[in-house]
Amino acid sequence: MCGIIAYVGGKQARDLLIEGLKRLEYRGYDSAGIAVLNDGMQLAKTTGRVRVLEEQISPQERFNGSIGIAHTRWATHGEPSERNAHPHQGGQGIVLVHNGIIENFAALKTYLVEQGHQFESETDTEVLAHLIAHFYKDDLEAAVRQALKEVTGAYAIAVMSEKEPDVLVVARKGSPLMIGVGNGEYVVASDASAIVAHTNQAIELEDDTIARLTTETFRTSDLENVTITPQMRELEVDLEQIELGEYPHYMIKEIHEQPEAIRRCLKGRLAPGEGRVVLGGLAEYARELGQTQRVVFLGQGTALHAGMIGANLVESLAKIPSRADFSSEFRYRNPIIEDGTVVVAISQSGETADTHAALREASRKGARTLGLVNVVGSTITRESDAGVYLRVGPEIGVASTKAFIGQVAASIMLAVWMGRRRYLSPSEASSMLDQLKTIPDHISGVLQQSDRIAQVVSKYVQRENWLFLGRGVNYPVALEGALKLKEISYIHAEGMPAAEMKHGPIALIDQGMPVVVVATRSSQYEKVLSNIQEVRSRGGHVIAVATEGDSSIESICEDVFYVPDVPEPLQPLLTVVPLQLLAYHAAVLRGHDVDKPRNLAKSVTVE
Ligand code: M6R
Repeated sequence: MCGIIAYVGGKQARDLLIEGLKRLEYRGYDSAGIAVLNDGMQLAKTTGRVRVLEEQISPQERFNGSIGIAHTRWATHGEPSERNAHPHQGGQGIVLVHNGIIENFAALKTYLVEQGHQFESETDTEVLAHLIAHFYKDDLEAAVRQALKEVTGAYAIAVMSEKEPDVLVVARKGSPLMIGVGNGEYVVASDASAIVAHTNQAIELEDDTIARLTTETFRTSDLENVTITPQMRELEVDLEQIELGEYPHYMIKEIHEQPEAIRRCLKGRLAPGEGRVVLGGLAEYARELGQTQRVVFLGQGTALHAGMIGANLVESLAKIPSRADFSSEFRYRNPIIEDGTVVVAISQSGETADTHAALREASRKGARTLGLVNVVGSTITRESDAGVYLRVGPEIGVASTKAFIGQVAASIMLAVWMGRRRYLSPSEASSMLDQLKTIPDHISGVLQQSDRIAQVVSKYVQRENWLFLGRGVNYPVALEGALKLKEISYIHAEGMPAAEMKHGPIALIDQGMPVVVVATRSSQYEKVLSNIQEVRSRGGHVIAVATEGDSSIESICEDVFYVPDVPEPLQPLLTVVPLQLLAYHAAVLRGHDVDKPRNLAKSVTVE
């Protein structure tokens, strides 16, 4: 979603801002812009890529200056266009970049028009720029404070004024923003990826906080102008982790990082000898969580698919009633939270607005809240009572891969952890954890099929409709396979429980339609074989993900990818990998920019 980068210090702001915008590109955007203060406001915008913006301003000396703001926009209010791109001006020499949505922008705009303000764009952001200008009386920070008191919605903003050319004001509520603190300089950004090249010391701004930054001074305060002393922390991301290295795309890099990512996720947390999982982040609530009566997993997209697996496993291993829900639906259905309900928010970014809002709602209604999150210090981690970090490292690819594996691994550990406080015996837990330890090596083995998967995909890549089928814990894997294919190759794909196909979707099957079936050895294996026959009788071509050694399945499928034999609860960690590779190769074969899929944002910070 939108990316903000801002700078005040002694360096050339332009170069630093452009480099920051490039690092933020992965968040998803449709236009970009920059403003630098140098003998007045210098502004440039484009609907093209950041490099187009760079070419546009590079030769121009007027863009030299040591304070500036820049932005990548993901359209919400108004089409992607130069007019709607940020930064926006509000009069009084004020210029602003914004991430989030100003919900009462229409009413504010009507008021400002009555006051004589004229607008150029359709955006809510321009309204905020004008509102700040409306309140401006020689003190930018005060004007921002006054304006923000009138605003409802979510925002992260960076603001400058020609009248105070050494002052940068930033603020946040509900949208991420962090301040990198260097030597006489500040780099403000939506996430750490745009900061780590300059400093590893950063402040995560709290909601309803404003910071006023100059090269010599730094002050944070709340909306009532009470000074706040922020917490500085060391960033855990290093530059190498966010570089492409030898890979053509972040997605394939991250798919290949999965064995290592899962090793990090499991490290120090498994004690198979004792049949125990050690989750330090839950220790404070261990006694209470042992009394859990109900678990609700919340997430969106890939994170929800991991949550569906989590709910299945908490119910089967820990025997606690569990379900998974879209955060966005849970939040607005006035959910019933009974005593002993634990709500588990799953999120790679920790910033997904729907999941954050659902977490707050659950907490307000008395649930104990846990976060299974990757990004350290993110909003969801700060607002949940306790949690488990995924530790899979930064995920830059818009299509989530290694985070899914981490989310599933964390859910398995949570299920065993809860199970051991209920009915799961030490020996059952012990054998599960022993097997869990072998997963990284198994994933490495599956990755070696990448070229073969590319060959198989090339046979079907022109087909516009695909089905993905699975049962039990592999049903969410089917959903995940379909989502991956949709989001980067723009092929229409549907995932569903294999048995559900007969209740309608079977009508879609025609000669040669690719149907991907997760058909590993499991409690429902025989039933899945019947579903495969149903597909074949109607002309569908079956691409199966099967258990190593199951050569008999080849006689009823067009193509088979094999994964090692592991206990059913662990299978999603392996069965998803061929599906990730399948989607990746399909997108590459269709000539798409895998890391910048159309219309998508890495982290969706608006509801
Ligand atoms: O950051 P989150 O895990 O909360 O993001 C949730 C979804 O937006 C995300 O998983 C999305 O579905 C992925 N792009 C799918 O690959």
